[in-house]
Amino acid sequence: MKGIILAGGSGSRLYPITLGVNKHLLPVYDKPLIYYPLATLMLANIRDILLITRPEDQDLYKTILGNGRQWGIHITYATQDHPRGIAESIIIAEDFVGTSPFALILGDNMFFGHGFRSMLLDAARHETGATIFCNWVIDPERFGVAEFDRQNTLISIEEKPEHPKSNYAITGLYFYDTQAIEFAKNLKPSPRGEIEITDLNRLYLEKKQLKTVNLHRGFAWLDTGTHESLLDASNYVATIEKRQGLKIACLEEIAWRNNWISDEQFLACYHKNKNSSYGAYLHRIYHQGKYAGSLSNIRFA
Ligand code: DAU
Repeated sequence: MKGIILAGGSGSRLYPITLGVNKHLLPVYDKPLIYYPLATLMLANIRDILLITRPEDQDLYKTILGNGRQWGIHITYATQDHPRGIAESIIIAEDFVGTSPFALILGDNMFFGHGFRSMLLDAARHETGATIFCNWVIDPERFGVAEFDRQNTLISIEEKPEHPKSNYAITGLYFYDTQAIEFAKNLKPSPRGEIEITDLNRLYLEKKQLKTVNLHRGFAWLDTGTHESLLDASNYVATIEKRQGLKIACLEEIAWRNNWISDEQFLACYHKNKNSSYGAYLHRIYHQGKYAGSLSNIRFA
């Protein structure tokens, strides 16, 4: 299974803070936003990752993330010169994907909750069809929206409907088989001029090949699209991390507990960060031992 992170776009809804910095490099409490979708793919055991950015941002991403070897993964880079829609990322990724099923995650989507890892591993096991993840929200008109019948069967999906048929938003995490490439190539731009991911998902729905996972009530799917929601996301991460003393989306921790990097590599990451509280955390968990604190959703194979 391969992974794609889409981290392009102008971030204009966050102006002026994104005038000089790409949205996905903004801090969410103690780490850049891009760490969170990367962590999600790593929790799905995906190690071969394509990061799609704007051409002018690519060098900065390479400086920050490199080729991913420090986390036992492999990151390659591609560009999207204009935000023509989320489904375009799949066309851009055609050569990278080859004949492998893949996951696509939007660079501004953050997930945290009990049982997430097993949901991801389950989705990654399906080699045919597609899987989407839905979450109940107060403002579904801002998202792709899923409608279910009384038997909980998905019956329709719509992109940002004026009158949503449910409160179930479709999150920015999708698993696809390789049919997605041909499907994406045949999509027509929507009235707003984008190749919509919702249109691609609707094709899978029409073929009865779309699986949905509803994230439960206690699950946090955080959005970072506005100043308010970016601050809320930072506060959420800070609250959980301070209470538990365990970090959300610590890439070094995931790689180390997964045995993708050695103790030496882990300590090298600590040394790089040793002047910050992030580094202090790496130091602490190293001395607590690899298996301490790795309860339920962070217990690794
Ligand atoms: O967050 C989930 C929602 O994401 C879904 O419910 C919607 O169905 C889906 O269309 C999308 O809606 P948004 O309005 O949030 O999409 P936005 O344009 O804000 O872009 C989401 C991320 O993808 C953001 O990090 C920028 C990036 N992006 C977006 C487009 C359209 C690109 O890199 N290139 C693009 O062409």
